[in-house]
Amino acid sequence: MCFKRQVFLLLIFFTAIGIKVSAQTWVVPDDQKAVVAPFKFTPEMQKQGEQLYLKNCQSCHGLPGKDNWIKQLIPPPGDLAMDKAQKQTDGEIFYRITAGKAPMPEFRNIIPEDDRWGVIAYLRTFNPKYVQPAPAAKAAFTGRIVSLAMQYNEQMKKIVVTAHEKLKDRDNVPAGGVEVMLTVKRYFGNMQVGDAKTTNGQGEAFFEFPSDLPGNSSGNVDVTARVNDPKNLMQSTPVTTTLAIGTPTDKPGLTETRAWWSTRAQAPIWILLTYTLSVIVVWGFIIYILYSMLRIRKLSKG
Ligand code: HEC
Repeated sequence: MCFKRQVFLLLIFFTAIGIKVSAQTWVVPDDQKAVVAPFKFTPEMQKQGEQLYLKNCQSCHGLPGKDNWIKQLIPPPGDLAMDKAQKQTDGEIFYRITAGKAPMPEFRNIIPEDDRWGVIAYLRTFNPKYVQPAPAAKAAFTGRIVSLAMQYNEQMKKIVVTAHEKLKDRDNVPAGGVEVMLTVKRYFGNMQVGDAKTTNGQGEAFFEFPSDLPGNSSGNVDVTARVNDPKNLMQSTPVTTTLAIGTPTDKPGLTETRAWWSTRAQAPIWILLTYTLSVIVVWGFIIYILYSMLRIRKLSKG
């Protein structure tokens, strides 16, 4: 009796702590409050934001303006069309969506940044008094703007990648010191060829090509050159060229004949049969067990 009362009191105690902890006010740092969207909200964004809202937020917050949020949650999520949420700045709401606070999940990695602004664009349609603050100008890109070209030099038997860059006053200036890497397209993604090379003063980098690299039936290989720039200091697009430098192979493509590595429609017959048979056997077994159980019940009654 006494023990039961102790447990009961403990339960009340922890529930109280739980409510206290989760009901702490949710403070947004001042510098985050001032953040504004990087673009002007458009009707398309609002529509897209609505879809995202229905998918990610409605389960707790209900439909904006309908006051049908989940009343059982502590702290209460509330209706986001109401004053309490609408009086907050865009930056404040953006911060809350990004960072979350239990039980609300953080959406940092669930909804991309631009789309999180889209959700806010949607929520603001429920606030007739809302006027969007001037969008923040995206910081101008200060890195190098590099373009690549690639060709095969017959005499040298090398692939030559040339890099040019755009300077303030001139275009198409040979770009030295650019690290370039080559990849070739294989069935399952891209394979790097050799090491990355850095362009010389003429903006050129030379790549030896393994002579035994398998190509398609006419020896063609899709080669891609891209700038190796993990720190994102340059702006560039990879270039892809088909070069007849591989050894011709007659290995069929993924969809041409039945093979282990092919798509499902091209799977070998024996794999299809084995799979189908095992499904039938397992289901047969389950049905047999159910049937036996029914029979046992019947027999025990009779
Ligand atoms: C699992 C339930 C849940 C989901 C899903 C959820 N929230 Fe929340 N949200 C909450 C709770 C609970 C609070 C209250 C938190 C607090 O006050 O400490 C909250 C608070 C907020 C607030 C602050 C409201 C205010 O009045 O200050 C905003 C804004 C918000 N959520 C936006 C969103 C958006 C946008 C989404 C979808 C992308 C979302 N939430 C998804 C549970 C949820």
